[in-house]
Amino acid sequence: MSSRNLQQGDVPIVMTINGDRLELHVSPWTTLLDLLRDHLHLTGTKKGCDHGQCGACTVLIDGRRINSCLVFAVMRDGAEVTTIEGLAKDDSLHPLQEAFIERDAFQCGYCTPGQICSAAGLLAEDRAHSREEIREHMSGNICRCGAYTNIVDAIEDVMAQEQSQQKAKVA
Ligand code: FES
Ligand code: FES
Repeated sequence: MSSRNLQQGDVPIVMTINGDRLELHVSPWTTLLDLLRDHLHLTGTKKGCDHGQCGACTVLIDGRRINSCLVFAVMRDGAEVTTIEGLAKDDSLHPLQEAFIERDAFQCGYCTPGQICSAAGLLAEDRAHSREEIREHMSGNICRCGAYTNIVDAIEDVMAQEQSQQKAKVA
């Protein structure tokens, strides 16, 4: 994974991205989204509106979902970032990735990395306990193909899996 050539005014930062600790030099105005896509070639994270309106650029920063187009990279010096490329472990897809495939929760797929990262953040927040709450808390992620019903189905499946795993641990 490589960054671009050093330029005047660049700021040194350290970021752990998908488990790799990287020492980087970035312009103060470089967004996290542009750092990921243009400098590090992690193009799974998508640029839609570039204005915080669509959710296509959603990644996890220190476990919390965030629109990477709204964040300057220098503001997150020291952060741990997880993108769609970092969700699978070894040869196993993340349960949300499996569920999106199983539920056919995409058409063109452009919004999908953001949807899945956002859903991972939502499950960690433990704020959604029904279809309606999933819809509400995922409302920042727009799908122009209108795959919303299947997206909610996929998230609901993983939410149910997690709940049954927790019950099994308690029992
Ligand atoms: S590209 Fe970031 S919210 Fe649309
Ligand atoms: S699957 Fe096409 S925008 Fe969501």
